[in-house]
Amino acid sequence: MAAALRGAASRLAGLRVTPCRTTQSSWTCPSGRTTAQLTISPKRTGAFVRLYSNGSDNAASIPDPELQDKPYYVTTPIFYVNASPHVGHLYSMVLADVLKRWQVLKGKQALLCTGTDEHGMKVQQAAERKDVHPKALCDTNSQTFRDLAARGNLANDYFVRTTDPDHRDAVEYFWGRLRDSGYVYEKTHEGWYCVSDETFYPDNLVARAVDPMTGKLRHVSIESGNVVEWTQERNYHFRLTALRERLLEFFKKNPTWVTPPSRMAEVVDWVENHLEDLSISRPVSRLDWGIPVPDDESQTIYVWVDALVNYLTKAGYPGLAPGKEHTGGWPADVHVVGKDIVRFHCVYWPALLMAVGQPLPRRVLSHGHWLMDNRKMSKSVGNVVNPFFAIDRWGVDTMRYFLISRGSITNDPDYSNKHIVEAYKKGLQTGLGNLVSRVTKGRAWNLRSAVRSRCGQHLEESDVVDVDYAKQMQVAEKAAAGADEHMDTLSPPSALKHIMELVYESNKYLAYAAPWNVAKQGNQDETEKIIYLTAESIRIAAILLQPFIPEKAAEILDRLGVQENRRGFDFARVHADDSYGLDPEDRKADEALFPRLAVED
Ligand code: ME8
Ligand code: MG
Repeated sequence: MAAALRGAASRLAGLRVTPCRTTQSSWTCPSGRTTAQLTISPKRTGAFVRLYSNGSDNAASIPDPELQDKPYYVTTPIFYVNASPHVGHLYSMVLADVLKRWQVLKGKQALLCTGTDEHGMKVQQAAERKDVHPKALCDTNSQTFRDLAARGNLANDYFVRTTDPDHRDAVEYFWGRLRDSGYVYEKTHEGWYCVSDETFYPDNLVARAVDPMTGKLRHVSIESGNVVEWTQERNYHFRLTALRERLLEFFKKNPTWVTPPSRMAEVVDWVENHLEDLSISRPVSRLDWGIPVPDDESQTIYVWVDALVNYLTKAGYPGLAPGKEHTGGWPADVHVVGKDIVRFHCVYWPALLMAVGQPLPRRVLSHGHWLMDNRKMSKSVGNVVNPFFAIDRWGVDTMRYFLISRGSITNDPDYSNKHIVEAYKKGLQTGLGNLVSRVTKGRAWNLRSAVRSRCGQHLEESDVVDVDYAKQMQVAEKAAAGADEHMDTLSPPSALKHIMELVYESNKYLAYAAPWNVAKQGNQDETEKIIYLTAESIRIAAILLQPFIPEKAAEILDRLGVQENRRGFDFARVHADDSYGLDPEDRKADEALFPRLAVED
């Protein structure tokens, strides 16, 4: 508990706040200015403040995107710790990381949060099966996800754990606001619960199916195929149905809120046709691995309510001063999620936020599922690829490149080593690697002096050499804006494709212009023009590739001699940097950027 208080205190440090102490389980700030109420379980007491006002009805609109001191805030789902991570988790992490790094490239302050979802039946049962305490299981497996973020080279600012004290504070506070909102009531619930998906399913989404292992009949969810069990219990409910019109109005005003459009349509359909009130707690007798309902120790907060609040926790909720809430990043700019959890993020989450008077996230990017043998790669099925082994084998940037270029927002891509080899050879080895080595290793020219003499100069067509400089210039010039447009529509795969087109076009241009032959003819002027324009194309491509393949892109820029402070988005224009290029004597005997693969599957 001391740690919890320290956590809360440190988040409050530096703010003008009024600590209010209480030993009661329900508390209203004596200022009486709002009805802000925090309920604290009797085990926990501490210093809290009136923080978020519940008065304004700003939840149904997206706030001013130009708020100067709001960092761009990207999140991944927080992953269940019932088993080890697989390539699907790495995919969400990398997508989110690319989105964050793109903003940083553009000079913006940006935050990335990833982490682990540690409460609930699924984790409780996994711990029982292993005969360990749930917290011990969480500590071990959460660390593996943290290691994966590091191995995947994520620039994450936060790694949230739902068992952390700051998160527990945020959830308890959130619960208190939800109770205040009038949208919570108690009732006996009967229905099908799916532990694997941690959700109730209505009757019409459940079917009988034979278990292929045992031949026994059981009930499964039609959506996920996972087993459901009939439960009857008394618990707290959230009056989701009362928010139907507000949700629909919000979707109407923000038709691109969910990407891709097909999933936005599913969300609208769900709200129009399938909305039911949501059970938001479970009896302790059934589930005790979770955050107790403040004021009612017989109930545990539903794991999805607990989990969704993680996005607020790391944005400083509820510890930021009124009017300054956005400085922690909230509302999130993008939640990256798999298509399996769209309903939780696009129906339940906005409704919960509306109820407590919080602004809604600006966009949700939902992506497809990686398949193995035509089935979703999944911990429960066991058809998974260990992402650590994949990174060890192929290298982190090859994996990042493969996942983004072959992955899909809309469809479900196939995972196979054959596809990795293909992507590596075409995009990285032949495409990028060749281009860089031809220009940086060529002995027939001096890149440094080519840059010095050509930067800022008009590259006139020549009578002697048949090369279309203007065309290549155009290809290089439109790379940055084109990629940026794709990133704006939350499509890293299209942005990467667009950048790689510059690489492929530059290879064609270089092969056609053949500067090695032009140099042999003694035409230094034209040789320099050709080389300068190729180097510009590489420089621009490498700057734009930094969010995708950070290590390799940095290595390319090093080999070109581009200064550290000239690697931002603004430099991704032709003639934007006159200071790069190494003299031949300064070049190191570099190894191949993308070496031949030892074993090709
Ligand atoms: O659902 N392909 O956690 P989870 C692509 N704790 N992505 C995949 C994937 C696949 N085959 N399999 C999993 C939960 N993912 C909750 C989330 S958020 C507040 C709580 C990725 O461990 C994808 O992002 O089951 C998917 O949505 C997520 O992992 C589910 O991870
Ligand atoms: Mg799952």
